[in-house]
Amino acid sequence: MVKKICCIGAGYVGGPTMAVIALKCPSIEVVVVDISVDRITAWNSDLLPIYEPGLEDVVKKCRGVNLFFSTDTEKHISEADIIFVSVNTPTKTRGIGAGKAVDLTYCESAARMIADVAKSDKIVVEKSTVPVKTAEAIEKILWHNSKGINFQVLSNPEFLAEGTAIQDLFYPDRVLIGGRETPGGQKAIETLKEVYSNWVPEDRIITTNLWSAELSKLAANAFLAQRISSVNAISALCEATGADVTEVAYAVGEDTRIGPKFLNASVGFGGSCFQKDILNLVYLCECNGLPEVAHYWEQVVKINDYQKTRFVSRVVASMFKAVSGKKIAILGFAFKKDTGDTSETPAIDVCKCLLRDKAKISIYDPQATEDQIQRDLTMNKFDWDHPIHLQPLSPSAVKQMTVTWDAYEATKGAHGICILTEWDEFKQLDYKKIYDNMQKPAFLFDSRNVVDPEKLREIGFIVYSIGKPLDAWLKHTPVVA
Ligand code: NAI
Repeated sequence: MVKKICCIGAGYVGGPTMAVIALKCPSIEVVVVDISVDRITAWNSDLLPIYEPGLEDVVKKCRGVNLFFSTDTEKHISEADIIFVSVNTPTKTRGIGAGKAVDLTYCESAARMIADVAKSDKIVVEKSTVPVKTAEAIEKILWHNSKGINFQVLSNPEFLAEGTAIQDLFYPDRVLIGGRETPGGQKAIETLKEVYSNWVPEDRIITTNLWSAELSKLAANAFLAQRISSVNAISALCEATGADVTEVAYAVGEDTRIGPKFLNASVGFGGSCFQKDILNLVYLCECNGLPEVAHYWEQVVKINDYQKTRFVSRVVASMFKAVSGKKIAILGFAFKKDTGDTSETPAIDVCKCLLRDKAKISIYDPQATEDQIQRDLTMNKFDWDHPIHLQPLSPSAVKQMTVTWDAYEATKGAHGICILTEWDEFKQLDYKKIYDNMQKPAFLFDSRNVVDPEKLREIGFIVYSIGKPLDAWLKHTPVVA
């Protein structure tokens, strides 16, 4: 009988996942621990550290009852029967494999902490997305420091998507649990399965060996990102030929072998996972002597970069090939709607390129904070080979950027608007009012196909909608991406 679960890492995965386990398993005490005092303080406050529809309700119902957030890592690890490791697994920024391989420092330190403080048998669950065979490394750390304690390591990757995390956790397409094919491993699988069976139908719980579970998560993210890059590649051809990517995606997606989801053309995918996980997959292929396979998956990230460059080139080419000193409003900065997360958001690259071209940008996002946006645009991140990132932004370029809390304020006096996130509220804006307050000609570049281009053209805008037939103005401004 599982009495207590501890989760190491109170992030986008650890927080929501444990909140839902606490809600669905009232007899289990669930404690989420983190080394970040700020994060834990926020989880214990009225302003949670992450925005997810429905999350606040779940936390409010369970917090202080059977759900706790704490920095007392040692105590809760030592008391738990099951320990989830849900720490960050970023791309390495230096050393061997830099730019592609995963930095497993946080995973390793979590494993060492478990080995240090455990006094009874534990099931250790990899929740983080990790390279195949990471469980073996965790096992070695635990077993070599075990003091006679029995540790079983399971892989239980998380498939939730930010923005719909609570719904995804309530009604998962599947829960995947991988374990050793030994009696001890199988028993551990059954124990974790029982926890999920409190709300997940049995036929949705898939059990596999450890390596299949670890690889399935990387493969799933690579397939999802590949769909986006595929439709984005087609969007470029649509613009060149007069086809409409929405119509093409619909026609393609009606084929039941393909399906309609994840076929929206856009300025590119973002978020903390897709790029990181594909590069991780690429690195794994390279390490396993499979350069052709590595090259295949690498193209998914390259097309993503191409799409961002193509978009910015279109903006600059349309606005008389010069944006210097012109105000451009950025509507949306988060990497997708219904989240405040800006990790790897395409908006970072688009804004940096425009700032480098000396545009004045005014950003509005319903959730991303000014602090976060400032950090994203000023921090020089390590890049694997992003040509568009290479030059750092000068301090004067950064001063050309403001963050506002209103779309009307952001667009006032602007020469152009870039819609970079598909927030629903951008569909409802009074575009006539916005147009009246802009410089003319007024440009609107919709990278998410949020607005109806025809309606906006009637108002007077020159509209670019990604993957859609170009209006006359744009046809005469060829783009070199
Ligand atoms: P995150 O960065 O939001 O949270 C990770 C947390 O772990 C941080 O708060 C950090 O302080 C904490 N941490 C790191 N080392 C620690 C240690 N030794 N002891 C205690 N706390 C420690 O990361 P996020 O987004 O929750 O992701 C976690 C894992 O889940 C990653 O491997 C990610 O790839 C994967 N994942 C993420 C998804 C997402 O949508 N964000 C979806 C599915 C999987």
